[in-house]
Amino acid sequence: MSTNTPRLPGGTWTLGDATVTRFGYGAMQLTGPGVMGPPADREGALAVLREAVDLGITHIDTSDAYGPRITNELIREALHPYPESLFIATKVGAVRDENGGWPPARRPEDLREQVRQNLGSLGVDTLDLVNLRLGDARGRIPEPIGEAFRTLAELQKEGLIRHLGVSNATAEQIAEARSIAPIVCVQNMYNLAHREDDALVDELAADGIAYVPFFPLGGFSPLQSETLSKVAHRLGASPLSVALAWLLRRSPNILLIPGTSSVAHLRENVAGAGLALSDEDMAELDTIGR
Ligand SMILES: NC(=O)c1ccc[n+]([C@@H]2O[C@H](COP(=O)([O-])OP(=O)(O)OC[C@H]3O[C@@H](n4cnc5c(N)ncnc54)[C@H](OP(=O)(O)O)[C@@H]3O)[C@@H](O)[C@H]2O)c1
Repeated sequence: MSTNTPRLPGGTWTLGDATVTRFGYGAMQLTGPGVMGPPADREGALAVLREAVDLGITHIDTSDAYGPRITNELIREALHPYPESLFIATKVGAVRDENGGWPPARRPEDLREQVRQNLGSLGVDTLDLVNLRLGDARGRIPEPIGEAFRTLAELQKEGLIRHLGVSNATAEQIAEARSIAPIVCVQNMYNLAHREDDALVDELAADGIAYVPFFPLGGFSPLQSETLSKVAHRLGASPLSVALAWLLRRSPNILLIPGTSSVAHLRENVAGAGLALSDEDMAELDTIGR
């Protein structure tokens, strides 16, 4: 259930036993180019993380595959010991190869190793949330996930994971995961221009499960649309602010994890997501992804 917080747009959402701000932060962009290696501006990356927490953000999304290890190590350096309120979501199911690729790694031994690596690099005894990342870099793949998800459910029983989720998942895979253990979120690609999951967002909302869109701003190529620019111009706001405000209004179970490597952009995004959109604005924006 959502309640309101005066500090950040969108208020809060309950993820399992934790309350998080619906305005979160996606930490993938803190590494070097191609999500590989260290950032060019290490102090700047640490400053973004500290600013996120100072702004009141309590939900950070990461993965040990970012860098690899770099993003988790930056989070640890910037924020450990973590504030009680901070909820760090991570992912397993893919590793990195020497070319910067993301080969799937979902055998039980792979997943156990990735959970161990995340615990170590983040410096915690229990991970708040682990998403099983499915498919591959090209998108979703409709294949069974039972063995992999059962492994995460075992790790949860062993006390190494508090909550489970799935990412890059089809509706069938979400149903399969839920038949094995409860999930608190689904993290899939979704934004103003990519609306494949429209029905899924609403179904999950009805079941009290969060929907966490990745690439909320369009990812590596920021969202561009004539209609978006027109609405933004009319409101005197930036197109990216409108894209975030639209997501917050789209459904109460949507949690934002926009990525940025810039303190200025982070502040801009927090301010921009608070933009009030009218029903007419929403209807016009709805035409973009249809
Ligand atoms: N589950 C998965 O498979 C998966 C896949 C991809 C991502 N993710 C997660 O989703 C999170 C969000 O995705 P993302 O970061 O790739 O994409 P995104 O949030 O859609 O967009 C990030 C891009 O937008 C730019 N940006 C942000 N704010 C801006 C502003 N105010 N003005 C201009 N440019 C701005 C950033 O550049 P600057 O750095 O210059 O601000 C960055 O290039 C990631 O951090 C990651 O945690 C998950």
